[in-house]
Amino acid sequence: MQRTIQRVSFIGAGNLASHLIPALLDAGVQVMEVFSRTGVSAARLVSSWNVPSGKFPATINSRSHAVVIAVSDDALPEILGALGHSDKILIHTSGSIPATVLGESSPEYGVIYPLQTFTRNRPLDFRQIPLFIEGSTGSTLEAIRQLAGKISDRVTEADSEVRLALHVAAVFASNFQNHLYRIAGDILKSNRLSVSALESLIRETMEKSLEIGPENAQTGPAVRNDHRVIEKHLGFLDHDTGRKEIYRLLSDDIIRTKNRKDTS
Ligand SMILES: NC(=O)c1ccc[n+]([C@@H]2O[C@H](COP(=O)([O-])OP(=O)(O)OC[C@H]3O[C@@H](n4cnc5c(N)ncnc54)[C@H](OP(=O)(O)O)[C@@H]3O)[C@@H](O)[C@H]2O)c1
Repeated sequence: MQRTIQRVSFIGAGNLASHLIPALLDAGVQVMEVFSRTGVSAARLVSSWNVPSGKFPATINSRSHAVVIAVSDDALPEILGALGHSDKILIHTSGSIPATVLGESSPEYGVIYPLQTFTRNRPLDFRQIPLFIEGSTGSTLEAIRQLAGKISDRVTEADSEVRLALHVAAVFASNFQNHLYRIAGDILKSNRLSVSALESLIRETMEKSLEIGPENAQTGPAVRNDHRVIEKHLGFLDHDTGRKEIYRLLSDDIIRTKNRKDTS
């Protein structure tokens, strides 16, 4: 029988939940309750909606059709242990955890993985966010597809292996990128320069890469084979072994990638 998900319970009140819950509420999905580890973040999150909150472990509202588990990946086994056997559709939101970990708790389970970086209080247009979904059975997948379609125009089916590749790519494109901005900012700050000097460079790098592709957009000493400049930069970073190693690894990879392209 085709199930529809109209009422959901939430475990997790962090960065993702702070975007996913209002998107679901706007789409007319009833959020029955939100739980977090201590209950504090859940109470803060629901404060502007008429949604009950509390700390987990707790009894899930019997009227919920699904439980969305949006917690730190390492906490998932503990949550599932506390949840026990469930008659709900269980949905996790992680890029790198196979859907099957939910199988011991319910025969109906799946994943909604949003390929975006979420931070509380940073507005995003949820309809534009790609959602990668998985379901344990045909009817579960359809129920999850319907739910995801209520909040995003970009819903695609992807199994756990594909989702892992998406997550690894996302770490390179977003998390590492952001960390490199951080390193660049630290270098400027420790030389008493303003971080805002990087703004137009960061914007143009991102826009150019999206427009003409990263393979056509690369500039800098590594792609030009300016080894003397690279050595000078490594000398500049001598006091910081970790960041010097990052510089060397990335430069080597840019050179290797360029050489592969040149010989192909
Ligand atoms: N943020 C993103 O950009 C993003 C993007 C795509 C997918 N995801 C996925 O979404 C999931 C959540 O990520 P997030 O960034 O929202 O994490 P987060 O901001 O760190 O929030 C984690 C939430 O889990 C709760 N939690 C942790 N352990 C718990 C436990 N034992 N019992 C009950 N609640 C517990 C925390 O409660 P407390 O507040 O009480 O500590 C917190 O509310 C992860 O699977 C992540 O891979 C995140």
